[in-house]
Amino acid sequence: GAPGFHDYTVVVGYGTPAQQLPMGLTTGLGVSLVRCTPCGAGAPCDDLAFDPSRSYTFAPVPCGSPDCRSNCSSSASASWCPLTVPFLEGAVVRDVLTFTPSASVHDFTFGCVEGSSGGPAITPPSGAAGLLDLSRDSRSLASRLAGGTFSYCLPRSTTSHGFLAMGDDDVPQNRRGRVTAVAPLVDCPALRNHYVVELAAVNLGGRDLPIPPAAASATNATVLDTAISYTYLKPSAYALLRDAFRRDMARYPAAPAGGGGDLDTCYNFTGQPEVALPLINLRFGISGEILLLAPEQMLYQTEPNNFFSVACLAFAALPSDDAPVSMVMGTLAQSSMEVVHDVDGGKIAFIPGSC
Ligand SMILES: *[C@@H]1O[C@H](CO)[C@@H](O)[C@H](O)[C@H]1NC(C)=O
Ligand SMILES: *[C@@H]1O[C@H](CO)[C@@H](O)[C@H](O)[C@H]1NC(C)=O
Ligand SMILES: *[C@@H]1O[C@H](CO)[C@@H](O)[C@H](O)[C@H]1NC(C)=O
Repeated sequence: GAPGFHDYTVVVGYGTPAQQLPMGLTTGLGVSLVRCTPCGAGAPCDDLAFDPSRSYTFAPVPCGSPDCRSNCSSSASASWCPLTVPFLEGAVVRDVLTFTPSASVHDFTFGCVEGSSGGPAITPPSGAAGLLDLSRDSRSLASRLAGGTFSYCLPRSTTSHGFLAMGDDDVPQNRRGRVTAVAPLVDCPALRNHYVVELAAVNLGGRDLPIPPAAASATNATVLDTAISYTYLKPSAYALLRDAFRRDMARYPAAPAGGGGDLDTCYNFTGQPEVALPLINLRFGISGEILLLAPEQMLYQTEPNNFFSVACLAFAALPSDDAPVSMVMGTLAQSSMEVVHDVDGGKIAFIPGSC
């Protein structure tokens, strides 16, 4: 990615004895994916792969098992459950997953990725052996280990550490008092693996943007993504935010598009004595509270530790107004907050300044 971004991984153990592997995080895929030896065509091991032959608890998931969601009649080997993730080849398998010495799942279901048929396959972040699924699917680590409650904090810089905490007990009680915003979870059949909240308003510098009803209602679903950096709005909603932001920032010298070319609203703050930034806040759901983004969560800085350099509004447009979601919130906007997914409580809570 662009300078200043890093991939977020956690290390977990697969198999017995445990093979420790760094994993990226996903909250919507519906199945965990791990590169497995012998790492066939299109899926090089890069020294980061699970070796099933060294685990004595490894077992394939049979066709017909509730954990096999694939259409087995279309598979070559009729008894093993084939992985049905676009462009990936492999099998759905089970083994022990060790999250911490005291928290493990004995028959954790995941996809053993043995190869790729080419095409835009889901790939783990660099330095990871796969993706650990935290989705609402019953096979996810969150469902298996934590009854649907987990939280994470994505650090903003490589010098600080974040965390992934599973289950209610793992979330220190003293943080509860610092919750500053709550977003009610909604059921969204079209996104059933995802944690969905509704975007009710986008506010810039104290004014709600007049997001047209076509962009806001009908599909006002918002998802949080741990694998993309920026935050994406429907094109019509993004245009309103960008134009209002540009009006407020007209006194600062503009800079060319940045952040890998995705970000079209950039400024050169070099030599400015101070910058008066209109802040963005988001409101989720009818009963939701306001989430105020800090400047570091709104802006992508080309020099990570120097605010007075070139910085870009870290928002961009989704491909179309017909997108099934109205907002995808990326890692920069979520950074340094603890993001608590509380399925039993029907909410996502945000606790700023947690890592
Ligand atoms: C499963 O695949 C077979 C063969 O490709 C097909 O005939 C059948 O309709 C599929 N079943 C479902 C439920 O998709
Ligand atoms: C989201 O859209 C649904 C369906 O159009 C609507 O009932 C609901 O009020 C909207 N929610 C918000 C927060 O705007
Ligand atoms: C930013 O502005 C400073 C001072 O005007 C200039 O020296 C520098 O080259 C500019 N940087 C970019 C990336 O445009």
